[in-house]
Amino acid sequence: MKTLSQEQINEIRNSVDIVDVVSKYIPLTKKGKNYFGVCPFHEDSDPSLSVSPDKQIFSCFSCHTAGNVFNFIKEYEHVSFIEAVKMVADMAGISVNIDTKNTKTIKNNDIYKIYDIGQKFYLNNINTSYGKEAKEYLYKRKINDDLIKEFEVGLAIKNSKALSTLLEKKGFKEKDLIDSGLIVKDERGFHDFFYDRIMFPLHDINNKVIGYSGRIYTNIDAPKYINSKEHVLFRKGEFVYNYARAKNECRMKNTVIIMEGFMDVIRAHSVGVKNVVATLGTAFTKEHANIIRRLASNIIICFDGDKAGSKATMACSDILLQYNIIPKIVRLEEDLDPDEYILKYGKDRFLDKINNPISVMDFKLNYLKKNKDLTQTVDKAKYAKEVIEQLNSIDDDILREITLKKLSKETDLDVEFLKDKLTKKEVTKINKPKTVQTNKYDMAQLGLLFYMLRSADVIKMFDNRTIYFPTKEYRMLAHEISYFYKNNNYINEADFLSDLDSELVPVVGKIESLNLNENYSNNLIIDYFNAIEEKNINDECDRLTKLMNEETDLEKKAKLGQRILELVVRREKNV
Ligand code: CTP
Ligand code: MN
Repeated sequence: MKTLSQEQINEIRNSVDIVDVVSKYIPLTKKGKNYFGVCPFHEDSDPSLSVSPDKQIFSCFSCHTAGNVFNFIKEYEHVSFIEAVKMVADMAGISVNIDTKNTKTIKNNDIYKIYDIGQKFYLNNINTSYGKEAKEYLYKRKINDDLIKEFEVGLAIKNSKALSTLLEKKGFKEKDLIDSGLIVKDERGFHDFFYDRIMFPLHDINNKVIGYSGRIYTNIDAPKYINSKEHVLFRKGEFVYNYARAKNECRMKNTVIIMEGFMDVIRAHSVGVKNVVATLGTAFTKEHANIIRRLASNIIICFDGDKAGSKATMACSDILLQYNIIPKIVRLEEDLDPDEYILKYGKDRFLDKINNPISVMDFKLNYLKKNKDLTQTVDKAKYAKEVIEQLNSIDDDILREITLKKLSKETDLDVEFLKDKLTKKEVTKINKPKTVQTNKYDMAQLGLLFYMLRSADVIKMFDNRTIYFPTKEYRMLAHEISYFYKNNNYINEADFLSDLDSELVPVVGKIESLNLNENYSNNLIIDYFNAIEEKNINDECDRLTKLMNEETDLEKKAKLGQRILELVVRREKNV
């Protein structure tokens, strides 16, 4: 495999302007030296993302995501770093010969290979004579050959040794075969986990097959679907069906529709509604929300029309609301799922539903009203309480106001009275913009790092003083900067970011959002050093004091006291 050198990566980075690249994804407006836009990495409507043409970096002063052009693509497109480099090279018309499949970000290559072989095998089966019955089943369900092809539907044949024999011959490690979930081993030896099922492949966000859902298609007494067991690359609670295929359509429409099952997705797709994804019938998780919200800012929940579907819609909305996303809701009649609905009522009526979703609060009002008789005082009070509780998790003032008015009408309770019942306190939200904590010692460390990222002189001062940063991640970043300088003999934040461990990138984001003056004086740097030194002495004093208090041996206790005293003297001299 060919890897790229740091120089080549820098060259690719220099061949594009970060402002051009970012503006392909989000609108930017120039203000002063920099460009600003709405950050795509947290839920927001204010332009908190800043892009600097001088420094060729971006940073969000709200969520602290930051980086160079590669980091932006990596975050936005959900790809590995090296894939991002390749995409930028493509934009710049530079041809790079790198195998993006073979990078260290891919955790277990052999599992991908096993799935590759499995996929070819299953796809082939369905087109042989073994696949006749399966095809008939699919046709009966109005899944035609085009859909079979597009969704890569395959077949696991009855012989439960077929795939395992094939894979064994290829010499895969037993552990990988078993970890993949496609092969099981028991007293009979290796055999296939899936047999005699129609195989719906599950692709990850990079469009690689990482699992299957296998459906029965004859009248056998077995569970309708079985899914691959979880492995390093496949977690059900994080899996989003159809992500890769729907990505562009979602971004174009800035809307994503969530359904419960992949059959529903396939059906919707077949009538031209292609901005659709599904969870695998499992409970909707925060991880799902986190992945799906990257696709579009408008989210529509279109779950099954039955009772379970409406309960799941409540749960899913609540998770999205925690992310400050206010979803829209589509409810289907007669307990139908989207697949059945489209087959029964046709494309146009379904489109009409999708184009006219209801507000999440209207859905909730209806949901909470069920099984209640609002002419009864007890039910009415319960209902009002429940609606108020729901409103407390909503950040949208207008939606609150509208809902309160409705509630007031329904319950004959005064709007002002109801408003009074809303909790005044700020609700805890996930991913709320964090303001940078800046106590004196934090500030000294961040400030020093800020100028180290900009000035070789400050790096040299740091190297000469051998400063120990009390905070671990700051300490690591300082060493990375110093190391980069030693290797390259220059410091450039954008190049530095290409090399940086992704765990430390948010620290740079935090530093950038400090918005410090680009110029510094040596005195300022020395003040930072002294503050850091003071913090180290304080920490050491605390540690020794604790030891001294626990010590029973009087002589040792006195020695510890002496050391503390020395430190205090040093601290006084220092300031
Ligand atoms: N599911 C599962 N195991 C089951 C049933 C369902 O893993 N025994 C998952 C599947 O991923 C399915 C989703 O839950 O896509 C939704 O289930 P359901 O609504 O029952 O399936 P449908 O999409 O209606 O599938 P079909 O039309 O084939 O019955
Ligand atoms: Mn169905």
